[in-house]
Amino acid sequence: MTENSDEEVVSESQIAVHWREEEYYPPPPAFVAQANANDPAILDRFAEDKFPDCFTEYADLLDWDRRWDTVLDTSQAPFWRWFTGGRLNACFNCVDRHAAADPDKTAIIWVPELEEDETLYISYGDLLRRVNEFAALLQDFAGLKTGDRVTLHMPMVPELPITMLACARLGIIHSQVFGGFSGNACGTRIADSGSRVLITMDGYYRAGSITDHKVKADEALAEAARLDQEVDKVLVWRRQPGQYASATPMADGRDFFVDDLIGKYAGQEVEPVSMDATAPLFLMYTSGTTGRPKGAQHSTGGYLSYVAGTSKVYQDIHPNDVYWCMADIGWITGHSYIVYGPLALGTSTVIYEGVPNYPDGGRPWRIAQKLGVNIFHTSPTAIRMLRKVGPDEPAKYDYQFKNMTTVGEPIEPEVWRWYYSSVGKGQAAITDTWWLTETGGFLGSTVPALQPMKPGSCGPGALGIFPVIYDENRNEIPAGSGRAGNICIRNPWPGIMQTVWGQPERFLDVYYRKYNADPDSKDWHDWPFLCGDGAVRSEDGYIRILGRIDDVINVAGHRLGTKELESAALTVPEVAEAAAVPVIDDIRGRMVEMYVSLKPGVVPDGMEAKVTTAIETEIGKIARPKNVWIVPDMPKTRSGKIMRRVIASVSNFADVGDVTTLANPEIVEGIRQHVQKAKVDKGDTPRPLTDTELAEIQSFGNE
Ligand code: WTA
Repeated sequence: MTENSDEEVVSESQIAVHWREEEYYPPPPAFVAQANANDPAILDRFAEDKFPDCFTEYADLLDWDRRWDTVLDTSQAPFWRWFTGGRLNACFNCVDRHAAADPDKTAIIWVPELEEDETLYISYGDLLRRVNEFAALLQDFAGLKTGDRVTLHMPMVPELPITMLACARLGIIHSQVFGGFSGNACGTRIADSGSRVLITMDGYYRAGSITDHKVKADEALAEAARLDQEVDKVLVWRRQPGQYASATPMADGRDFFVDDLIGKYAGQEVEPVSMDATAPLFLMYTSGTTGRPKGAQHSTGGYLSYVAGTSKVYQDIHPNDVYWCMADIGWITGHSYIVYGPLALGTSTVIYEGVPNYPDGGRPWRIAQKLGVNIFHTSPTAIRMLRKVGPDEPAKYDYQFKNMTTVGEPIEPEVWRWYYSSVGKGQAAITDTWWLTETGGFLGSTVPALQPMKPGSCGPGALGIFPVIYDENRNEIPAGSGRAGNICIRNPWPGIMQTVWGQPERFLDVYYRKYNADPDSKDWHDWPFLCGDGAVRSEDGYIRILGRIDDVINVAGHRLGTKELESAALTVPEVAEAAAVPVIDDIRGRMVEMYVSLKPGVVPDGMEAKVTTAIETEIGKIARPKNVWIVPDMPKTRSGKIMRRVIASVSNFADVGDVTTLANPEIVEGIRQHVQKAKVDKGDTPRPLTDTELAEIQSFGNE
């Protein structure tokens, strides 16, 4: 690495990345024998010369009211339009057609967090009835119609997919906000999407006790009102009908219990609305470089085709499998691979209410044994945590996975090996699926029966996905060069987001501006999609994802924008400046540390707690910083930019590099001593960082 002054930007592409090439693991023969995609001909069918028509193989998994005229319409590039002219209904495809074929078949298996509470089996027939009744309520009582947006702020209960599917039935665009997000975060998303209705739940179980969730609805509405968005109805599902888990009053004429209303709609049927393939199905908000969250808008036909197809090929879902994805439906993983993909294929999908280690680290394996789960899907954070609390637990239970997925963060090879040998008992194929909220479904993974696994690499581009790694000047970094760069996808695919809701310019800016040479081009070859990750490609074409290249910190698989964290800290009136940086954490991947400087004359006592509370209030508990450091001033460039890489290095005990060109180099050593001494005193000294971690930390916040 060369010397870095504050003017000279060290990008990850300039840093040679060294890691040991891992050994391949062949797919287990028993898995291969029964796999959906075990004929290598599929690789040819999705070769580049078959693009875009190859994706009709995915679209053909669905029932269309009208078949499409054009597979890919590029006339509004890069606002791609898939399967134009086609019409379908997502709810019909996920529910009605399976209910018609076999109404008693289990659609959803819901596992409440308390182990003594009964598991709920919802058949496709029951699901259809419940979705119909709720759709009738949405239409009649809430006055919602096709094209309206509605915000959901719900926990992991069957009422969440029921609500989503009822919206989809009517062409109402749902925007589910992760239940762990704060009321304020929900409020900004209500306002951004222009929702007049909020659907929530009174409470839910988490780590053994019931939390008051309805209180967040009141906060959300206050925040939305501040942003000029009036909400006229709040529909409150009750975790236990008839009992109310919240301490907050129900606002008269505004808040309504669903279980009080739903009886009126008993047995009602609502025709699924035949939607244009390009009509939006839902919004999923995600973090970016600026404070305003981005509503990734996903389409009906392209998205549903892509998640159905990838669920079949990569998750290897057959109708008779019992599939369990432990992610939260409030994230894209849950939308695509708990709800839409698995249900489109007519399988049984498990929804677990609580935390994986409640009441102990054996819980997931007991659930798997009891329900006969044979496909399992989770995140590296959950795997690291379960390995820590119960490394020998999986062996105690009699379950058998054929396929296991990991998603959301890079997985360390030794963690991968525990997943493979202990959780998978050496008999399951692993798919390490790399993708983003914006991409709807997988971008990189091995086809599990056809391509060997390699710990720490997700694999090659998924079928019909053609990745490329560019340096800052759009030169392609060749596979096998050992150099990292910005990974892009050269082509569009059906699952790609359509736009950023209400911010088309931002869609262009964030994902296309950097590598598009001709903004008027209607040729997809001119529009590589910038994924926002640094990556290296080895000779075999396998991709290793290094992490975000923007100001995003990936905490336990959750994207948190530094700007959001910093704006939250700045809501504390005494705070003058704030900076968020990542610290390497052996369980959660990364955690957030905040640095704040205070306004003159402010007594620092208690300020750490105030900043923490502000972040929990504005974003949610997942964003809770590991530490808040009060500093006299921030290290800054002469142009006044906070040098996040310097404080990130301090927090991670990495070399801060050359600071002599800063405007205030003299403060760095004081901050370093203060922070590192405090950490040593707490016993919080990190292990030595790997090359790639060091590269990430020492270039953090560079533009
Ligand atoms: C990271 C989650 C390594 C990546 C589906 C990406 C991964 C961000 C992987 C998107 C993986 C996701 N290996 N890193 N298998 N999967 N990521 O939008 O940095 O919540 O850009 O979507 O997670 O996070 P998001």
